[in-house]
Amino acid sequence: MTSSTRTPTEELSATAGRHLLLNMTPNGSFGQGGQDLFVVRSGEGPYVDDADGRRYIDGLSGLYCCQLGYSYAPEFADAAARQLRELCFSPLWSASAHPTAIELSERLARIAPVDIEHTFFSGGGAEAVETAWKIARRYHALRGDSTRTKAISRRGAYHGLTLGALSLTDDPGLREPYGPGAIETRFVSNTNRFGLAPECADDDVYTARLLAELEAAILAEGPETIALLIAEPVQNRGGCITPPQGYWPGLRTLADRYGFLLVADEVITAFGRLGEWFGGDCYAARPDLVTVAKGITAGYAPMGATLVSSKVTEVINRPGAVLNHGYTFAGHPLSAAIALRSLEIMERDRILDNVRDQQGHLATRMAALTDLPLVGDVRGAGFFYACELVGDLEGGGFSDRARADLVADLVPRRLREAGLLARVYNRAAPLVQIAPPLISDRALLDRIADILTDTLTEASARL
Ligand SMILES: Cc1ncc(COP(=O)(O)O)c(C=O)c1O
Repeated sequence: MTSSTRTPTEELSATAGRHLLLNMTPNGSFGQGGQDLFVVRSGEGPYVDDADGRRYIDGLSGLYCCQLGYSYAPEFADAAARQLRELCFSPLWSASAHPTAIELSERLARIAPVDIEHTFFSGGGAEAVETAWKIARRYHALRGDSTRTKAISRRGAYHGLTLGALSLTDDPGLREPYGPGAIETRFVSNTNRFGLAPECADDDVYTARLLAELEAAILAEGPETIALLIAEPVQNRGGCITPPQGYWPGLRTLADRYGFLLVADEVITAFGRLGEWFGGDCYAARPDLVTVAKGITAGYAPMGATLVSSKVTEVINRPGAVLNHGYTFAGHPLSAAIALRSLEIMERDRILDNVRDQQGHLATRMAALTDLPLVGDVRGAGFFYACELVGDLEGGGFSDRARADLVADLVPRRLREAGLLARVYNRAAPLVQIAPPLISDRALLDRIADILTDTLTEASARL
């Protein structure tokens, strides 16, 4: 095909195939002679347009980033221009700082969980997680606890792909190609009760069971060897897994009893995704460290951050103690200015109130999907939901045919054709997930639910 007869998507895919390596992508399958990429050219409100001009509801907010959708560019451009005119760059390094990062750290302390006053900035989620690990190690070492070299994480959890964060990520396919992990990590159960014994439907019973398992793991490893436990308020991987009541307070109790630090990985759940500034606020979490990224700038600039409680800073800020850790672009003035403007807009436009007002309706619409034969479970909170699909085999598994026809083909294809970007995970337990922009109104949430219903109804009929 000559370049003049190619669509913009074909043209861009061919160029990408020659020059661009994508994340988590079989790069050799795209470009000239291969499949086309999905090329997003522009965005407006909660919608994005592809390179050929087709419009989609961005049911995933970018990748859980674009809390405000795509139409606040003029305000962000103004914030960016002001900042760049004043100061394009200055590092937060060797006792040097700039006013915008200082202001942002103060602003974050105002909305952070109680006892959290300090922030260490970074470039994204994995860097924030690595920072949490290093701060935890510094904390323990400065207290004379240098045997605390292990982490506890949860099955199926994703905490990023840099080598340290990867150690905390429970996905052998992602970890094994890179050899032994940088951090010795013990994985314990997450809080997914779908398919478990009926008594696990009771929060008290299930929480007690999870905490007993965790305590046994701590004792087996040796409590004096555990530096931290990391968990998301609602675990993304495995499909928006919410905790039972009492779980986070139970984690706090065990962290205090055995002396390790509790890290809430809020890379997805912070900044309104669950209707609060921090997802942990929905579950009475009292973490020592909180990792954030993605929604901190609503996707208008890259940034990560690790929020640190006073209990920890009282130790790591002891006179003479140096925090030997850093990133050149940590707290970049441009990203900091954008984050500040985003927090301002979220407050001014009552974005959290929108999630709080709409979340009950979304929950009802999503729960109705369990009437469909293909949908085994629906879980989530706020503007963050997943359906776990069950197949044609005894016990809910998928035959190769049903997996190939429905999970790998029909469901993702129909969602796309209907104009909805949602995430379809073709894993042992297949999932369809949504995380719409937090500006979505009821009509848009209904449209998303209608598309999911139509698609999963058609797929159910073919089961
Ligand atoms: C919970 C969680 N932690 C950490 C990360 C890593 O963030 P990043 O991709 O910005 O490094 C992610 C990314 O999706 C995440 O979901």
